Amino acid sequence: TPSSDGPVSDWQTDFDHADSAYNRNAPEIWDELRSQCPVAHSERYGGAWLPVTHEHVREIAYDTDNFTSLQVVVTKSRIDPSLAPVGTAPPISSDPPFHKHARKLLLAPFRPDQIAPWEDEVRAICRQRIGDFGDIEPGETVIDAATQYAQHIPPAVISRMLGFPPEDDEKFRGFIHAVLEQVNLDPEVRRETFVDLDAYLDEQIEDHRAHPRDDLTSYLLNAQIGDQQLSHEHVRGSIALLLIAGIDTTWSAIGSSLWHLAQNPADVDRLRAEPELMTFALEEFLRAYAPVTMARLVRDDYDFHGRSMKAGEWVLLPFPAANRDPEFIDNADKFTIDRKENRHSAFGLGIHRCLGSNLARLELRVAIEEFVARFDSFELADPDAVRWSLGQIRGPRELPIRIN
Ligand code: HEM
Repeated sequence: TPSSDGPVSDWQTDFDHADSAYNRNAPEIWDELRSQCPVAHSERYGGAWLPVTHEHVREIAYDTDNFTSLQVVVTKSRIDPSLAPVGTAPPISSDPPFHKHARKLLLAPFRPDQIAPWEDEVRAICRQRIGDFGDIEPGETVIDAATQYAQHIPPAVISRMLGFPPEDDEKFRGFIHAVLEQVNLDPEVRRETFVDLDAYLDEQIEDHRAHPRDDLTSYLLNAQIGDQQLSHEHVRGSIALLLIAGIDTTWSAIGSSLWHLAQNPADVDRLRAEPELMTFALEEFLRAYAPVTMARLVRDDYDFHGRSMKAGEWVLLPFPAANRDPEFIDNADKFTIDRKENRHSAFGLGIHRCLGSNLARLELRVAIEEFVARFDSFELADPDAVRWSLGQIRGPRELPIRIN
């Protein structure tokens, strides 16, 4: 259990607790931490802090002077810094003033009016996957809604937006899967995957340079910061960021939402009977099962509400915990499909707030709509067989669902 004797104790236990809150999907643990140890410290990761109230998470996310985003992304730089020097995943791993320029560049293609026209394509991708399940024997057929459904949607969508050839989908998904999923993969194999992915991206970028078209890759090749064209590394880094930021997150959100619906048929019925509820349901899925915990580094030694943070230590930003803070959200632990007021922070807070949120919402909505439209009744085939990801992006990685 979490220690309750103030800052002198070893907070490692609380971190273990928080990890298991993710892994066991036991949000009540956030409550324990909030009441007993709201800013926990661990010696892990070279020193790390875990604030769990909405107020603290918000304060840190907004304070770019004391908490830096340089190095936050889990990129290949962790494996071999020469492969991806810090700064090649702009804007997420940058601070002001550069951040503003890198972000501005990516805002335009993700505006609502640019994303809405993708709905038909997203729907077609979802239907194709459902078609590929083959014959369904009600009561017998078990599909894995993570590996056979959710995990195919975001890579295919971003690949179409970037203008990569559809026939490369499986190859492309293979790279992404290895990069994002196989955390325990042999480092050498991982390294090779990054090299192969880079080579693939180089090839696509060169092809677009030779044959410009109306897609996101050509948009980046034409883009400028000031009067400067982007370097090849910046274009490749931006594409890599869209893959890292947009894929794991979104398939996790789709998976968690289906996991919820598989256990709550009353919510499925309501969504069918009142389609206009979807707007609220989406936000509630994002709030209750927020997939992303981000991190910052402490820039200089800093006193945060009485806790002495040291330069170079990590500070986690657990948006899932902020979203369950009863001080901020009424009935925070209750999933309320028609929750009207929902100021969740699943997409982050402050200057780094997710710029792909319109696309994420579109994919999440259409993936749920299509699943619910096709299958009248479904349930978890075996609750013990659901496997959740570990770490900063949380969602089901195996999700066997029986179609009834
Ligand atoms: C940033 C969550 C989908 C692109 C963020 C941040 C969060 C987040 C919490 C803030 C990071 C920080 O504070 O350091 C999510 C969730 C998603 C999702 C929960 C799905 C449900 C997407 C998609 C894309 C995308 C589909 C684009 C393809 C980005 C980018 C940033 C970002 C580029 C960096 C923005 C900046 O640093 O200014 N996202 N994201 N995300 N997200 Fe998303």
